[in-house]
Amino acid sequence: MARKPGLLLPLLLLLLGPAPARSFGQLPLILNTWPFKNATMAAWKMLAAGGSALDAVESGCATCEQQQCDGSVGFGGSPDESGETTLDAMIMDGTTMNVGAVGDLRRIKNAIGVARKVLEHTTHTLLAGEAATKFAESMGFINEDLSTNVSQALHSDWLARNCQPNYWKNVIPDSSKYCGPYKPPTILKRDGIAYKDPAHSYSHDTIGMVVIHKMGNIAAGTSTNGIKFKIPGRIGDSPIPGSGAYADDMVGAAAATGDGDILMRFVPSYQAVEYMRRGENPTTACEKVISRIQKYFPKFFGAVICANVTGSYGAACNKLSTFTQFQFMVYNPLKSEPTEEKVDCI
Ligand SMILES: *[C@@H]1O[C@H](CO)[C@@H](O)[C@H](O)[C@H]1NC(C)=O
Ligand SMILES: *[C@@H]1O[C@H](CO)[C@@H](O)[C@H](O)[C@H]1NC(C)=O
Ligand SMILES: *[C@@H]1O[C@H](CO)[C@@H](O)[C@H](O)[C@H]1NC(C)=O
Repeated sequence: MARKPGLLLPLLLLLLGPAPARSFGQLPLILNTWPFKNATMAAWKMLAAGGSALDAVESGCATCEQQQCDGSVGFGGSPDESGETTLDAMIMDGTTMNVGAVGDLRRIKNAIGVARKVLEHTTHTLLAGEAATKFAESMGFINEDLSTNVSQALHSDWLARNCQPNYWKNVIPDSSKYCGPYKPPTILKRDGIAYKDPAHSYSHDTIGMVVIHKMGNIAAGTSTNGIKFKIPGRIGDSPIPGSGAYADDMVGAAAATGDGDILMRFVPSYQAVEYMRRGENPTTACEKVISRIQKYFPKFFGAVICANVTGSYGAACNKLSTFTQFQFMVYNPLKSEPTEEKVDCI
């Protein structure tokens, strides 16, 4: 697909001459959260076949949706309180600053594909819920049940545990002991600023992917089924531009993973790109984003990946007792295959 602004960067470099620090040997670049190697490979193959950065992000994230990466992407994972799996996804074009996203998407497996259709065929940015499903059907996607034996078993175990853990607070009956339905109490006891550490096992979640085409076009995207036992209707950070991911051909891109309810309050991917715009290298940009969130939520679960326009990359994560290192995937011409890298959390 021809995108005129994509010519801008190479043209500029031609006019100005290559800046000394720039090494184009590191492009193209694929960077994604967690050791989801098949997704990295799919994105790489798409570029090799002549696809755009957007095509590569879509293909990489779709691979995770089909293969149910760690049970946290695609169908059959993270049932909500009613037992249903719902999906969030986003894709962003850093050349045109166009975004397509879906939140709380129901009964459609290929969420990143629907997000791409929002980008290509609407002037909207984000569609949600049942109406997003209707849109998807009109675009030719199949309406099908996303439950599996695995997601049903997760849900019945949760019911048997008195609906623990859950995400309610300040309600009656006491949500730390009983199932709902819940109501607000007549007198609200404010729980101050204490952050209730969600009792999850910090399982991998969300594929976030950044692709830089060798011509300099940058795209980013995400796909996830959210968190287990969420309150129906909950949408995480993944489909929110600037939170789940962000891309800007002039600077670079970033993507986040972790506790989306916390992450989205800090718009971390946008923030990382802005740090890089101000001259920070990708690692420092990622670290600064994590530090900002740490000040308010020292026990939040989260990580960010960052890449700049010259193909340098980095990552950072918040250190917890059970989460001390974050793994991510990298593929560029300096590697012979998709390579897993690790960063120590700060
Ligand atoms: C990756 O893809 C291969 C071949 O398609 C498949 O056998 C394998 O299970 C996949 N890995 C994961 C973690 O899904
Ligand atoms: C799922 O459960 C049904 C019955 O509840 C069973 O017939 C089916 O074989 C199970 N599928 C898998 C993949 O285990
Ligand atoms: C990208 O980051 C590297 C350091 O990791 C730096 O040397 C390079 O100048 C940065 N590129 C841009 C365009 O800022």
